[in-house]
Amino acid sequence: MIALRTVEDPRGALTFVEAKCDVPFSIERVYYLHGVPERGRRGGHAHRKVAEVLIAVAGGFEVLFGDGLDERRVRLDEPRTGLYLPAGIWRELESFAAGAVCLVLASAPYDPGEYIRDYDEFLALRGQG
Ligand code: TYD
Repeated sequence: MIALRTVEDPRGALTFVEAKCDVPFSIERVYYLHGVPERGRRGGHAHRKVAEVLIAVAGGFEVLFGDGLDERRVRLDEPRTGLYLPAGIWRELESFAAGAVCLVLASAPYDPGEYIRDYDEFLALRGQG
Protein backbone atom coordinates (compact mmCIF):
# COMPACT_ATOMS: atom_id res chain seq x y z
CA MET A 1 0.00 0.00 0.00
CA ILE A 2 1.37 3.43 -0.91
CA ALA A 3 0.40 6.51 1.09
CA LEU A 4 0.08 9.15 -1.62
CA ARG A 5 1.13 12.68 -0.94
CA THR A 6 -1.90 14.87 -0.36
CA VAL A 7 -2.31 18.59 0.25
CA GLU A 8 -5.44 19.60 2.09
CA ASP A 9 -6.84 23.06 2.69
CA PRO A 10 -10.34 24.46 3.13
CA ARG A 11 -10.97 24.03 -0.61
CA GLY A 12 -10.50 20.27 -0.39
CA ALA A 13 -7.74 17.76 -0.97
CA LEU A 14 -5.26 17.33 -3.83
CA THR A 15 -3.38 14.05 -4.19
CA PHE A 16 -0.51 13.75 -6.62
CA VAL A 17 1.59 10.95 -8.06
CA GLU A 18 5.03 11.38 -9.58
CA ALA A 19 6.61 8.56 -11.57
CA LYS A 20 9.63 6.82 -10.01
CA CYS A 21 8.97 8.76 -6.81
CA ASP A 22 5.50 7.97 -5.48
CA VAL A 23 5.28 4.84 -7.66
CA PRO A 24 8.35 2.67 -8.46
CA PHE A 25 8.09 2.90 -12.26
CA SER A 26 7.66 5.40 -15.02
CA ILE A 27 3.97 5.81 -15.85
CA GLU A 28 3.35 4.91 -19.51
CA ARG A 29 -0.44 4.54 -19.37
CA VAL A 30 -3.39 5.64 -17.28
CA TYR A 31 -6.83 4.04 -17.41
CA TYR A 32 -9.83 4.02 -15.14
CA LEU A 33 -12.74 1.73 -14.49
CA HIS A 34 -16.01 3.56 -14.01
CA GLY A 35 -19.68 2.82 -14.50
CA VAL A 36 -19.08 -0.59 -12.96
CA PRO A 37 -22.40 -2.04 -11.74
CA GLU A 38 -22.83 -2.15 -7.97
CA ARG A 39 -21.17 -5.32 -6.59
CA GLY A 40 -19.55 -5.72 -10.02
CA ARG A 41 -16.29 -7.55 -10.73
CA ARG A 42 -13.31 -6.75 -12.95
CA GLY A 43 -9.79 -8.05 -13.38
CA GLY A 44 -9.26 -11.79 -13.20
CA HIS A 45 -5.79 -11.79 -14.70
CA ALA A 46 -2.09 -11.22 -14.10
CA HIS A 47 0.53 -9.39 -16.13
CA ARG A 48 3.77 -10.91 -17.33
CA LYS A 49 5.61 -7.58 -17.45
CA VAL A 50 3.41 -4.67 -16.44
CA ALA A 51 3.39 -3.18 -12.95
CA GLU A 52 0.36 -1.18 -11.85
CA VAL A 53 -0.86 1.01 -9.03
CA LEU A 54 -4.61 0.97 -8.31
CA ILE A 55 -6.31 3.91 -6.63
CA ALA A 56 -9.96 4.17 -5.59
CA VAL A 57 -10.41 7.80 -6.61
CA ALA A 58 -14.15 7.56 -5.85
CA GLY A 59 -16.10 5.02 -3.85
CA GLY A 60 -14.59 1.68 -3.07
CA PHE A 61 -14.02 -1.92 -4.12
CA GLU A 62 -12.14 -4.98 -2.92
CA VAL A 63 -8.97 -6.37 -4.45
CA LEU A 64 -8.06 -10.02 -4.01
CA PHE A 65 -4.46 -10.50 -5.10
CA GLY A 66 -1.83 -13.18 -4.87
CA ASP A 67 1.35 -14.70 -6.22
CA GLY A 68 0.04 -18.26 -6.41
CA LEU A 69 1.18 -19.05 -2.87
CA ASP A 70 -0.25 -16.30 -0.70
CA GLU A 71 -3.46 -14.37 -1.21
CA ARG A 72 -4.60 -11.14 0.36
CA ARG A 73 -7.78 -9.12 0.21
CA VAL A 74 -7.87 -5.37 0.77
CA ARG A 75 -10.65 -2.85 0.44
CA LEU A 76 -9.60 0.27 -1.45
CA ASP A 77 -11.86 3.22 -0.64
CA GLU A 78 -9.44 6.03 0.05
CA PRO A 79 -8.10 8.34 -2.73
CA ARG A 80 -4.90 8.93 -0.75
CA THR A 81 -3.90 5.26 -0.95
CA GLY A 82 -2.50 3.29 -3.87
CA LEU A 83 -2.10 -0.47 -4.13
CA TYR A 84 1.12 -1.43 -5.92
CA LEU A 85 0.86 -4.66 -7.89
CA PRO A 86 4.16 -5.69 -9.51
CA ALA A 87 4.17 -7.99 -12.53
CA GLY A 88 3.27 -11.59 -11.82
CA ILE A 89 0.43 -10.95 -9.38
CA TRP A 90 -3.06 -12.31 -10.02
CA ARG A 91 -5.82 -9.83 -9.13
CA GLU A 92 -9.61 -9.84 -8.89
CA LEU A 93 -11.52 -6.61 -8.31
CA GLU A 94 -14.83 -7.22 -6.56
CA SER A 95 -17.69 -5.67 -4.64
CA PHE A 96 -17.68 -2.31 -6.38
CA ALA A 97 -19.77 0.35 -4.72
CA ALA A 98 -22.14 2.26 -7.00
CA GLY A 99 -20.24 5.14 -8.60
CA ALA A 100 -16.80 3.80 -7.67
CA VAL A 101 -13.88 4.72 -9.92
CA CYS A 102 -10.65 2.70 -10.04
CA LEU A 103 -7.74 4.68 -11.46
CA VAL A 104 -4.84 2.55 -12.71
CA LEU A 105 -1.30 3.77 -13.36
CA ALA A 106 0.59 1.30 -15.54
CA SER A 107 4.26 0.89 -16.40
CA ALA A 108 3.76 0.11 -20.12
CA PRO A 109 1.39 0.66 -23.03
CA TYR A 110 -1.49 -1.79 -23.50
CA ASP A 111 -0.39 -5.15 -24.87
CA PRO A 112 -2.99 -7.92 -24.74
CA GLY A 113 -0.22 -10.49 -25.27
CA GLU A 114 1.35 -9.83 -21.91
CA TYR A 115 -1.84 -10.73 -19.99
CA ILE A 116 -2.24 -14.09 -18.28
CA ARG A 117 -5.99 -14.73 -18.14
CA ASP A 118 -5.98 -18.43 -17.21
CA TYR A 119 -5.37 -19.13 -13.50
CA ASP A 120 -3.86 -22.58 -14.13
CA GLU A 121 -1.41 -21.04 -16.60
CA PHE A 122 -0.61 -18.41 -14.00
CA LEU A 123 0.11 -21.09 -11.38
CA ALA A 124 2.30 -23.00 -13.84
CA LEU A 125 4.27 -19.87 -14.70
CA ARG A 126 4.75 -19.12 -10.99
CA GLY A 127 5.92 -22.69 -10.45
CA GLN A 128 2.88 -23.48 -8.32
CA GLY A 129 0.98 -25.61 -10.84
P1 TYD B 1 -10.16 -5.93 -19.47
O1 TYD B 1 -8.73 -6.36 -19.39
O2 TYD B 1 -11.19 -6.99 -19.64
O3 TYD B 1 -10.55 -5.07 -18.19
P2 TYD B 1 -10.19 -5.35 -16.65
O4 TYD B 1 -9.05 -4.43 -16.35
O5 TYD B 1 -11.41 -5.05 -15.88
O6 TYD B 1 -9.75 -6.76 -16.54
O7 TYD B 1 -10.26 -4.86 -20.63
C1 TYD B 1 -11.51 -4.47 -21.14
C2 TYD B 1 -11.32 -4.00 -22.58
O8 TYD B 1 -10.54 -2.82 -22.62
C3 TYD B 1 -10.63 -5.02 -23.45
O9 TYD B 1 -11.29 -5.04 -24.70
C4 TYD B 1 -9.24 -4.47 -23.64
C5 TYD B 1 -9.45 -3.00 -23.52
N1 TYD B 1 -8.29 -2.23 -22.98
C6 TYD B 1 -7.59 -1.40 -23.82
O10 TYD B 1 -7.89 -1.28 -25.03
N2 TYD B 1 -6.55 -0.68 -23.31
C7 TYD B 1 -6.19 -0.78 -22.02
O11 TYD B 1 -5.22 -0.11 -21.58
C8 TYD B 1 -6.90 -1.69 -21.16
C9 TYD B 1 -6.52 -1.84 -19.71
C10 TYD B 1 -7.95 -2.39 -21.68
